[in-house]
Formats: sequence, structure tokens, C-alpha cells
Amino acid sequence: MKRTLSSLALLCLLASPLTQARSIPDPHQKHAPGNEAPQTPIAQAGYSNATNYQLACAGCHLSNGMGSKSNDVPRMQGFVGNFLKVEGGRQFLVRVPGMSMSPLNDAQLADMLNWLLRKDGMAGASMPEQYTPYTGEEVASIRHETLLNLPGTRAKLISAMRAQGIAVTDGMGD
Ligand code: HEC
Repeated sequence: MKRTLSSLALLCLLASPLTQARSIPDPHQKHAPGNEAPQTPIAQAGYSNATNYQLACAGCHLSNGMGSKSNDVPRMQGFVGNFLKVEGGRQFLVRVPGMSMSPLNDAQLADMLNWLLRKDGMAGASMPEQYTPYTGEEVASIRHETLLNLPGTRAKLISAMRAQGIAVTDGMGD
């Protein structure tokens, strides 16, 4: 038994430099077979909105848009459409960093918003009666204006909603 243990220890000792060596990248390493092509940037890949959402947004907002209060990510599910009912809200939705700084191009961001802002989609019943879809041109014209004082801007939009009697169900509490 003692001998087995000590030979095991010796084996571990001998194997450890190998384990360390494996973590050092091999400069001559080849791509895995079938994986040689360089990656296509997401802005050129032509994925669906659902796929783009999974790749660029769901990490924070979660797949169903429920967000997470403990990470300060508001709920979009059944709520995000309310931003269209208050002045400045339409621009805000483009200018939040998760949108404006995402790897998606202007047309893809417009498509993404139009996909989120549907009565049968994530925004659901929070959508206003009238909705003018976003265009790539509109996104391009507001995307690059930096949103200064984001929490203050958002808080104003939320109080404008409250003033209209809109129930604030963004999951962030008061
Ligand atoms: C790194 C985390 C993160 C990622 C990635 C992210 N967001 Fe966000 N998002 C947030 C947070 C946090 C807020 C709240 C405002 C703020 O602090 O930026 C927010 C706010 C929003 C809002 C405004 C709604 C509100 O209640 O404030 C929209 C719309 C939105 N995100 C859409 C998206 C979309 C679409 C993507 C993917 C292209 C995305 N976000 C990627 C974290 C993220």
C-alpha cells in the first residue's frame, strides 16, 4: 500500500511539468481539422435576431429577457416597450451601452430592436398601440451619441412612466 502511494506520488511529480507545459500555447499549433477558416465577425455572419441575441445579449439579459437584479440588469420581458411611451425613451433604447457598443452593425441593431419590441415577443403587452419600426439609418444617427449619466437618464424615464400610471415591472425595485 505504502509502495503504491509513493509510486503514485512520484508519478504525479513526474507528470506535473507536462501539465504545466500544456498550458503554454504552442506557437506551431495548427487549427483543428475542418476549423481552418478565420472566424466571421458577427456583424457579417448574417445570423437571425434570435441567434444574435443569444450571442450578444443573453449573457446579461438571460434568454427570456428576465434580467437579474443582483447584477443590475433590468427585466425587458413584458416591460421594455414602455420606453416608447415616454419622451427620449426611443433614443435611450439605442444608446444604452449594451446596444450602442455591441458588435452588431446598425441594421442588425435596428432589426434586433424591432424583434424585441413586438406584442408577441419580449416586449409583449408593454408595447404601445402605434409602433414605427427602427431603421438602420435611425440607429446610425443616435448610436454614437454617448449616454452621459445613464442612471440619471433612466431614472427620469422611469418616473415619466410612473407619472403616466405605468406599472414599473423592470425587476429593479424602488
Ligand atoms: C454586459 C451586460 C449587458 C449586455 C451584454 C447587454 N446589456 Fe442591455 N442592459 C444591461 C444593463 C445593465 C442595462 C441597464 C442600463 C444600463 O445600466 O446600461 C441594460 C439595458 C438595456 C436596454 C434598455 C432597457 C432598460 O430597462 O434599461 C435594452 C433595450 C437593452 N439593454 C438591450 C440589449 C441588447 C439588445 C443587447 C445585445 C445586443 C444588450 N442589451 C446587451 C446590460 C447588458
